[in-house]
Amino acid sequence: MGQELPTSYRTTMAGALRGVDVGSTVRLAGWVHRRRDLGGMVFLDLRDRSGLVQLSMGPDWTEAESLERAASVGAETVVSVEGEVVRRPAGMENRDLATGEVEVHARRLQILAAAQTPPIPVYQLPGEEPAAEELRLRYRYLDLRREPLQRALALRHRSLQVVRRHLAGEGFWEVDTPMLTRRTPEGARDYLVPSRVQPGEFYALPQSPQLYKQLLMVSGFDRYFQIAKCLRDEDLRADRQPEFTQIDAELSFVDEEDVLGVAERMVVTLWREVLGVELETPFPRLTYAAALERYGTDKPDLRFGMEFVDVTDVLRETDFRLFAATRESGDRIKGVVAKGGGERLSRKELDGLNDVARGAGAPGCVWVKRTEDGWSGQFARFLEGGAGERFAEAAGLAPGDLFVAVIGRYWMRPRVAESHEGASDAERLTASEGALDALRRHLGDLLGLRSGGHAWAWVVEFPLFEWDVESNRLVAAHHPFTMPHPDDLAPLLESTASGAVDAERGRRLFDAGIRSRAYDAVYNGNELASGSIRIHDAELQRAVFRALGLGEAEAESKFGFLLEAFRHGVPPHGGFAFGFDRLVMLMSGMSSLRDVIAFPKTTAARALFEGAPAPLDEGDLAELGISLARERRKSE
Ligand code: AMO
Repeated sequence: MGQELPTSYRTTMAGALRGVDVGSTVRLAGWVHRRRDLGGMVFLDLRDRSGLVQLSMGPDWTEAESLERAASVGAETVVSVEGEVVRRPAGMENRDLATGEVEVHARRLQILAAAQTPPIPVYQLPGEEPAAEELRLRYRYLDLRREPLQRALALRHRSLQVVRRHLAGEGFWEVDTPMLTRRTPEGARDYLVPSRVQPGEFYALPQSPQLYKQLLMVSGFDRYFQIAKCLRDEDLRADRQPEFTQIDAELSFVDEEDVLGVAERMVVTLWREVLGVELETPFPRLTYAAALERYGTDKPDLRFGMEFVDVTDVLRETDFRLFAATRESGDRIKGVVAKGGGERLSRKELDGLNDVARGAGAPGCVWVKRTEDGWSGQFARFLEGGAGERFAEAAGLAPGDLFVAVIGRYWMRPRVAESHEGASDAERLTASEGALDALRRHLGDLLGLRSGGHAWAWVVEFPLFEWDVESNRLVAAHHPFTMPHPDDLAPLLESTASGAVDAERGRRLFDAGIRSRAYDAVYNGNELASGSIRIHDAELQRAVFRALGLGEAEAESKFGFLLEAFRHGVPPHGGFAFGFDRLVMLMSGMSSLRDVIAFPKTTAARALFEGAPAPLDEGDLAELGISLARERRKSE
């Protein structure tokens, strides 16, 4: 049963009433959700945070004035009410409502605040779509009254309490770190705040508490966590917000197993206490290279198998033009087996596969079905005889199965920072990998393999560097404080021995494929957390800065305080950050981050309700020592 939360206006919450309360007199307060008039009787659904209860008002038990008020009360009016809890007449119970066994015979109804007709519906008929998102965001306080959002934010609240309790129980201290800070390099642009007292100087809002949490380890705190606000000025997507929340943690004297163990236990507790689901541990671990090789992505959905199979050796000897061409080009023929897909997919669905491959940047895909008496599909006629047998065996194809292949180059690692738009195919994570990954997920959807289920996994040993085509240099794949893999140190130390690395040496370093001690937590195909074991040696940290093209002076000016701290006794340490909004979105089954953040921004990074960002007047700008570029002023 819900909490009763009595106050001076009420004895209990509306949604807390049950059969055992029959006969008691209650006072309730809340919003009128819906009104129905039936021949002299008025029925109101009264809503508060805990849910709904039906008020029934009639001449026999309701004061005349109150009945009159009730007859004209509008939706969303705030009222208080006094009455008796009665059992609903037999057959009139509402099984869809927690309070559906009872109703309140209201004696008196008072209006506490009138309400205009709401511009967006708070009461929705079953199956009715909510209002357009722009309107919903403009009237966010009304939108938040709707039950799905109340439920999502309640789940968010409960999850926060569980995380805090769990981490505190494992010896973590909650420490706040500053919002007005210096840039932390997490790969996005910073939001900047001008300083009034230091004209011409700017604070950066934190992209994450990365440097602070490492400094707390130098301070001997041993285990830190924070529910941290992070601010990143990046191009928005459905799964990104400019302002978001992380569960951020750092531990001392640890290696990967310690850190992943803590994160895993926290997730298990969350799933158990909030969702009532028991997860299996340990979560599967796979290296980045294995994830790319087997699923074409660093965030595979492991609720189903359908691993990539390389059938180049078998198929390139056939006469099918696309396959034969690989003898010269060196391209690979990789595909996935959709078990039973040959029988279950319609012709239209099969024809649609090409669009999925094209949408993911490949020229297309080819498919074939194994049938009881042979093959059918695009390259069926090249599979007669021994080639077909060898292919069926190599791919593990039984009658009824479908095989979908993408022919191309498979690099197995990204060549460029994900954000970069202008890269050629050869430079970015190749289209073949991306297309076969998209096909695997699409087939998983068509075959119903991607609904429900809880597949957590760790992807470990991410590359240390990516190649940024735009600036023609190495960039850190995670962030520059990530420890390189101990077996891959030699090329790094060699190329950085003589100062900052230029483009040519950087490219060679990239091609060396240096691995790192960074990991991601992946859930049902979504990246939910990242972290790494950190560098705790000032010399190695300098070497990584040099690899990233930073000269001594630049490294000193940007990160001097960290390097300095490392000279004063730094323990081996590592940590992680979960994207808390993403976590709550997936736990609550919502499809947008905006549905689990009380006051989110639009995809254009605007706050529609309060109207931010907003221009400043000349006086305010002058006080900050800022003058705007001319074009900007004209456009206003
Ligand atoms: P990273 O940048 O990978 O790591 O972020 C960690 C997690 O935060 C979530 N996330 C976001 N959620 C919503 N909107 C965004 N714009 C957004 N960006 C990231 C993701 C991601 O997995 N300091 C490191 C962590 C560490 O090394 O300990 C960091 O911030 O779920």
